[in-house]
Amino acid sequence: MLEIIGLSKHYGDVKAVTDLNLTIQGGEVFTMLGANGAGKTTTLMVALGFTEPTHGTVKLCGIDITEQPLEAKKHVAYVSENVMLYGNFSARQNLDFFTRLSGQPSQDAAHYDPIMARVGLQREAFDRRVKEFSKGMRQKLGIAIAIAKDARIVLLDEPTSGLDPKSGAEFLELLDELRDEGKAIWMTTHDVFRARVIADRLGIMVEGHLVKTLSRDEFQEADLERLYVEYVERPVLPAA
Ligand SMILES: Nc1ncnc2c1ncn2[C@@H]1O[C@H](COP(=O)(O)OP(=O)(O)OP(=O)(O)O)[C@@H](O)[C@H]1O
Ligand SMILES: [Mg+2]
Repeated sequence: MLEIIGLSKHYGDVKAVTDLNLTIQGGEVFTMLGANGAGKTTTLMVALGFTEPTHGTVKLCGIDITEQPLEAKKHVAYVSENVMLYGNFSARQNLDFFTRLSGQPSQDAAHYDPIMARVGLQREAFDRRVKEFSKGMRQKLGIAIAIAKDARIVLLDEPTSGLDPKSGAEFLELLDELRDEGKAIWMTTHDVFRARVIADRLGIMVEGHLVKTLSRDEFQEADLERLYVEYVERPVLPAA
């Protein structure tokens, strides 16, 4: 459902991503670990069509993000630490705006109530301006947008950073549900503990290279933290 094919992204001399190949299926959570500056966010920026690849392609539900950006973007929702929302709009207005932007038909205002409740936003926040929201509330609204858009691909960039333990656990439960609904989910995180809980497959990115992918069976057996450190400290072989 999400296909990254031979993707490289250079910013001048900086090789942020080098020859990345990765497919994420519907019903799968892929979690990407990697040091600061490893190229995780850059990969997402390309996949979302915010920046163009230097080489390679990204396909969302078979549609090339560079060739047909508007069509491709309908299938993807993005949740980041700094979820892009309109501060002067209420939660409900943001939901309606982004849902319609993705080509979904207009809905009654009440349509969004169960979605906001499902992600754990308090009722008193439904019609409050988003600029007054805490980080956790913004992240919850981000996932509400993903649900309302019914995007088949959900990309999350450190979505649980800064969430309190209860909200973090609830967030993972939501991801579990989305996986059960057949979404293809990519999550970057620095939280090895949460990665282990939620991931079906896990990747380690070092200096723009995807140096290792592990299946659930493989990483459940392993001391993930130690493995991660080993890979991050090992010299990266240049791509063939
Ligand atoms: N717009 C940009 N212009 C120039 N260089 C950039 C730009 N965006 C990212 N980079 C560089 O690309 C590299 C990868 O950055 P990226 O943000 O993808 O890392 P990351 O893995 O998401 O790190 P973190 O864990 O800190 O979020 C870094 O060297 C960064 O400085
Ligand atoms: Mg990042």
